[in-house]
Amino acid sequence: MLESTPLFLPVILGTSRKNRFSEYVARFVTEQVAKQPNVATELIDIRSISLPTDDEGENIKDAKFSEMMNRADGMVLVVPEYNHGYPGSLKHLLDTNLKEYIHKAVGIVGVSAGPFGGTRVIQNLLPVMRELGLVNIFWDGNFSSVQKAFDDNGTLLDRAYERRIEKFIKELIWMSTVLRYGRLNISIQ
Ligand SMILES: Cc1cc2nc3c(=O)[nH]c(=O)nc-3n(C[C@H](O)[C@H](O)[C@H](O)COP(=O)(O)O)c2cc1C
Repeated sequence: MLESTPLFLPVILGTSRKNRFSEYVARFVTEQVAKQPNVATELIDIRSISLPTDDEGENIKDAKFSEMMNRADGMVLVVPEYNHGYPGSLKHLLDTNLKEYIHKAVGIVGVSAGPFGGTRVIQNLLPVMRELGLVNIFWDGNFSSVQKAFDDNGTLLDRAYERRIEKFIKELIWMSTVLRYGRLNISIQ
């Protein structure tokens, strides 16, 4: 039965910048999601999806990305703060789908060099999530001073992040489970 198949909760790494610290964060979050029972995940690196830049929106869907969004019950966005906003490359990718996201859960992990853990980029993403039909959970991930949070091999230095991200993932699982139930069992009047 669909209801008993594992939840699929991919993690989207939302920057293609060379030497990005967000990659360490995305790898860590993906490992933590993968540890959860009855959950499948995959790290989606926006670098691996080449989209045309002379068009926008659903005309330039990438078939594999759309298939993964269709299959997803929820997702994590790992997003660095660039000038208090989100990378344009992430928005370019997200805009290529719509019905694939509707009534699915999303949790956002903000990443910043500064002290606020990407709170400003998270706030700026919320209206975008709503318009895409995604349901944002009330817990965020926040990696501030990210350059100090990992060593040169990408190993997490501050173990407190494990406990924090566990709470975030549990909430994402709860919301994804509820929304899957709703999509399968409750029709819109
Ligand atoms: C174009 C650009 C704009 C940035 N703007 C901010 C910012 O507004 N606030 C901040 O804390 N860090 C800012 N940063 C630093 C990033 O947060 C920092 O690079 C951090 O490591 C996360 O991004 P990364 O995954 O690209 O490394 C900016 C970096 C770039 C490349």
